[in-house]
Amino acid sequence: MSERILVTGGAGYIGSNIAAALTRRPGTDVLVVDDFSSGDWRNLIHVDCEVRALDCDAPELLDEIAAGGFSAIYHEAAITDTTVMDQRFMIEVNTNAFASILEASHASSTRVIYASSAGTYGNSPAPNRVGHGEEPENIYGFSKLAMDRIACRWHDRHSAPIIGLRYFNVYGPGETHKNEKSGNKTASMMLQLYEQVKAGKRPRLFKHGEQKRDFVYIRDVIGANLAALDAPRSGVCNVGSGAARTFNDVVSTLGASLGRKLDIDYFDNPFSFYQMHTEADVSESAALLNWKPEWTLERGMDEYVKLLEKAHRGPVETA
Ligand SMILES: NC(=O)c1ccc[n+]([C@@H]2O[C@H](COP(=O)([O-])OP(=O)(O)OC[C@H]3O[C@@H](n4cnc5c(N)ncnc54)[C@H](O)[C@@H]3O)[C@@H](O)[C@H]2O)c1
Repeated sequence: MSERILVTGGAGYIGSNIAAALTRRPGTDVLVVDDFSSGDWRNLIHVDCEVRALDCDAPELLDEIAAGGFSAIYHEAAITDTTVMDQRFMIEVNTNAFASILEASHASSTRVIYASSAGTYGNSPAPNRVGHGEEPENIYGFSKLAMDRIACRWHDRHSAPIIGLRYFNVYGPGETHKNEKSGNKTASMMLQLYEQVKAGKRPRLFKHGEQKRDFVYIRDVIGANLAALDAPRSGVCNVGSGAARTFNDVVSTLGASLGRKLDIDYFDNPFSFYQMHTEADVSESAALLNWKPEWTLERGMDEYVKLLEKAHRGPVETA
């Protein structure tokens, strides 16, 4: 039986990795819908899918969803620049569009898997657990929490599962466009540091590099998304590595992957809001998705740096 799966935001970093992995499943056709505001066509060069330039809540797409045109929907489209402060714009693009997609998917009982974020936790004490400490500190994090709340209201009425994946800090192949489009703001810290070193500079960190984040490799994020296709019920869960690592660790791991010792240039953090410690509790993810993270920072960085050295730009290859 052939399946047709929609990936909104499919020209973006995570969306193109999901689309690429889906096209490798037997009997699966993929439609990527993207407005190309932060995504990039180059991510899709090797992804054999249909592509449409469209808003993710365009009426014709919602009609197609409501008519049962897809067996599942991955909703990755969003404003992903967390420094955008226009509240109305952020809620319109991230939250309102998602509500419209849920309404349309309800009509056809279509499974929806969507991207939430660790930004929903703000600076609450780690480890971060769904249902606890959901106190976002910027409009981006709030727009994602508002999506989770809308999804939870649908859980009992929607006849197909709705699964929210709260990604932590994702890194790995497919994100190079983010730096180009955002003026070096939105790509992972791993890519930023790598590019600094390649430009002959010292890697730059906010003083004094002891901030901790849960960095999750793109292969684990793809794994969680594929597992969500078989999740038996609705829910929201974390997608992280389950470990918090310091920024200094990231630089030393980068140095180990490049085979050299890197001296760090520390500078003052200009942000008044900054997440100082994120760490995903992944116990609910194991229960909901039957999925566990497998990539440590060391393994993920080693593969990522090798691919960057080969100038690999697009999504990672999966079996
Ligand atoms: N990368 C991370 O570390 C991370 C962490 C937490 C959550 N997320 C979430 O994961 C999802 C994917 O993020 P990403 O890192 O791949 O970022 P990205 O910017 O590469 O991807 C977002 C994509 O959505 C598209 N888009 C934006 N608005 C749209 C609209 N109205 N209609 C159609 N397409 C639209 C963009 O052009 C882009 O291709 C987002 O929802 C983001 O909030 C990402």
